[in-house]
Amino acid sequence: MKIVIPLLLLLFSPLFPQDTTEQVIDFETIKTMNGRQIYETFCAKCHGIDGKGNIPEEIKQNWDVPPPDFTDEYFNTREPRKDWYAVIKYGGPVRGLSQTMPAFGDVFTDEQIYDVIEHIKSFVDQKKYPQGELNFIRAHYVTKAYVEQEALLIPTYTYKFENGHNVSDTKVLLYYANRFATRFQYEVKLPVQNLKSSVQNTTGIGDFELGLKYAFYDNYKNLSILTAGFEFSLPTGNEAKGFGKGTVVLTPYITGAKGIGEKIELQGSVKIEAPVNKSKGNPELIYGISSTLILPEGKRGIFPGIELLGMKNLGSSEHMISLVPKIYIALTKRGHLAISIGREIPIYGGTPFKYRYVGFILWDYVDGGIFSGW
Ligand code: HEC
Repeated sequence: MKIVIPLLLLLFSPLFPQDTTEQVIDFETIKTMNGRQIYETFCAKCHGIDGKGNIPEEIKQNWDVPPPDFTDEYFNTREPRKDWYAVIKYGGPVRGLSQTMPAFGDVFTDEQIYDVIEHIKSFVDQKKYPQGELNFIRAHYVTKAYVEQEALLIPTYTYKFENGHNVSDTKVLLYYANRFATRFQYEVKLPVQNLKSSVQNTTGIGDFELGLKYAFYDNYKNLSILTAGFEFSLPTGNEAKGFGKGTVVLTPYITGAKGIGEKIELQGSVKIEAPVNKSKGNPELIYGISSTLILPEGKRGIFPGIELLGMKNLGSSEHMISLVPKIYIALTKRGHLAISIGREIPIYGGTPFKYRYVGFILWDYVDGGIFSGW
């Protein structure tokens, strides 16, 4: 039996006023189509056969957004297949995108949808770029393995007893990261700090930091990624006032992440922080493990987690370990704006402070402005 689907045509007809090719396709035919055929039949009129979105002006004249360029390497590879599946099945708004991207509902089977996605993915050589499936939720201390295009504000509030006074130490790190080449990322960090007690109230900048990393291994099928990186800080802070380390510090590190099913993300990093001027302190081994629970189905929602942070002085027996229970809240349907907060609790090797809160506000600036995607 052949069932024609004028529904699809109805759906598209207002969008294609010029479309006179009254193409009627029946379900039986659709069922036999592979990803490429589906793309060329149902998607190419808006996205272009080559995926670049170069389509006639009259088609997109009433659109609120232009079609994306699927041949843009970073864009194509950073979008997880699961998110594209949702957009194709339920339409653009499910991920905070335009409703011009229609919902195809049950027109295709799940296998067909994933096959269309592979066709779109084939516009870029996927093996060259780390895959978006491995862009796990950012931790506070564990360094992220995925290469990012992000801006963050990272506040830390510490209340401690020092030199006979209660001191509140507020630090805000301005952080910017961007990618280059296939698998590299650079980042810059500038801390602004305030120290306040009954005898002082000083604000200043801390040590300016630069970082570079390279994601040398990734496999989105078994959800794992490994990255090596290097950071160095310059003594731009006024050490006498309590800001910065007073020397260049070199920090090589390695970081990795692994998804356990769809619900748990594990991340870990190991670094060595080595002051160049040895009189300013011994090198330290800093390690961390983070786990995050993926509770929401979509991108927006609450993601609880916990981190373990260890700091081992390599020139003495000093070794401190703390736990950081935390909560990450993604605010938008694209997940590109988020806040996270945690409390650091020392559990071994002494209590260097009475309490400490860590936080960040994150903006994936390539996924849209701060007012889009809500
Ligand atoms: C009526 C025009 C139209 C049709 C038909 C259409 N798309 Fe789209 N699509 C768009 C527009 C416009 C966007 C951009 C939405 C935005 O950025 O807000 C989009 C976005 C997308 C995205 C999301 C990219 C992202 O930002 O993560 C994917 C994936 C996609 N389309 C796949 C498809 C597939 C597969 C088909 C065919 C089965 C299809 N589209 C058919 C117009 C269309």
